[in-house]
Amino acid sequence: MLKLTVNGVVHDVDADPEMPLLWVIRDRLDMTGTKYGCGIAQCGACTVHMDGQPVRSCQTRLGDVGEGKITTIEGIDGRVAEAVQGAWRGLDVVQCGYCQSGQIMSAIGLLSDNPKPTDADIDGAMEGNICRCGTYQRIRAAIHEAARTLG
Ligand code: FES
Ligand code: FES
Repeated sequence: MLKLTVNGVVHDVDADPEMPLLWVIRDRLDMTGTKYGCGIAQCGACTVHMDGQPVRSCQTRLGDVGEGKITTIEGIDGRVAEAVQGAWRGLDVVQCGYCQSGQIMSAIGLLSDNPKPTDADIDGAMEGNICRCGTYQRIRAAIHEAARTLG
């Protein structure tokens, strides 16, 4: 039995330490906001935070999380998260939605470290998050809008 802290709650997880964190979150903890896209760290759909930093949960082994504090899209809160969600709604960023929890987790990670990102900063931080609907321009605009909100 392994202990896993997700969104401030400590769970006892009876799973192989080799199991990808993504499967634990989705299949054992029934939090399905985090999506499976590629399984090989190439699309960003599975992005969660570990101790505030974006990580690809498909390529993070349960056994490697240890004391790390995991945050999923269901657990985001605070000023940066509110600014991002408000900008996403205001600019109507989402199309099909499949990639968007990963996009939002990466955007929050970026703005938490860099409250006034340039276009190049945004492109650098977000390049691992693929959107098949091509919402990239709206994502970039929404990150700038969230940065403005954060002042
Ligand atoms: S599912 Fe993890 S990066 Fe694509
Ligand atoms: S909104 Fe459809 S994949 Fe990004």
